[in-house]
Amino acid sequence: MRSSDVAVMAAGSTATAVDVVGATKIFTVAKGAQVIALDTIDLSVAPGEFVSLIGPSGCGKSTLLRLIADLDQPTTGSVTVFGKSARQARVDQDYGIAFQQAGLLPWRTVAGNIELPLELHGTGKTARKARAAELLELVGLTDFADRYPEQLSGGMQQRVAIARSLAESPKLLLMDEPFGALDEMTRERMQNELVRICAETGAAVVFVTHSIPEAVFLSDRVVVMSPRPGRIVDVIPVALGAAEDRDDDLREAVGFFAAVSAVREALHGTPAGGAAGASAARGVETR
Ligand SMILES: Nc1ncnc2c1ncn2[C@@H]1O[C@H](COP(=O)(O)OP(=O)(O)OP(=O)(O)O)[C@@H](O)[C@H]1O
Ligand SMILES: [Mg+2]
Repeated sequence: MRSSDVAVMAAGSTATAVDVVGATKIFTVAKGAQVIALDTIDLSVAPGEFVSLIGPSGCGKSTLLRLIADLDQPTTGSVTVFGKSARQARVDQDYGIAFQQAGLLPWRTVAGNIELPLELHGTGKTARKARAAELLELVGLTDFADRYPEQLSGGMQQRVAIARSLAESPKLLLMDEPFGALDEMTRERMQNELVRICAETGAAVVFVTHSIPEAVFLSDRVVVMSPRPGRIVDVIPVALGAAEDRDDDLREAVGFFAAVSAVREALHGTPAGGAAGASAARGVETR
């Protein structure tokens, strides 16, 4: 058992996975100009809940995820993860991360990269190898275990990063467009797998995507953001049923399309297809 598990239990198993309260992030850029990347963001994610962030390019999705991961600090407001400061949660490695760039270590093999979080937590060699093999199978890279990242395509590297983020079955996953570099078939397969993994491990997920159908398929709630300044403009609850019912048939179900329309309308600020929508939602895929 990890020290973080003890802390979570001490805080009560119902401790909110992520709690962002009044978080504002202001960047100072050239000539002292300021960019309000995030403006007074409030967001709570319950244990086991899947929340997607969607919105046009530059609306602050990655910035919000970076605050939760303690890769950057809010200008004002606070971020807690399982009741701890974001910093403490990072030190305790309470979550898995898969970001826009795969971020693999070039001098480690594929298997070596996946085993890294386990190594850092002192998992024995045999258990590490077994877990890496399991994860490599999951992401379809069993034959590439001994290759180095530079020998893989971008999509394959991204799958290694996803496998690494899952290595310790974390209770929280922070994912920034993790499937962006994948072909459509692999992407849908990874979405199906992610739903299954979350159901099995009870992981909460904060997931950034540009794809409305992806957000709808995966999420309990879709958080819609708008830029300049980055704000939450709507939160759409998606109730598409239990993980075991979320298969490929669901992608063609009436309820699925209704939820896709609801998110699209929230993004556009008008009914789907409205004139304001075309520019407001630039950078958001509707496929
Ligand atoms: N380190 C930084 N310094 C200055 N400005 C920044 C920095 N990081 C982000 N920004 C600005 O903050 C805003 C939000 O950026 P962010 O990367 O969070 O957007 P995003 O929603 O993730 O966009 P995308 O969909 O393109 O990934 C943008 O205007 C960006 O230019
Ligand atoms: Mg981003």
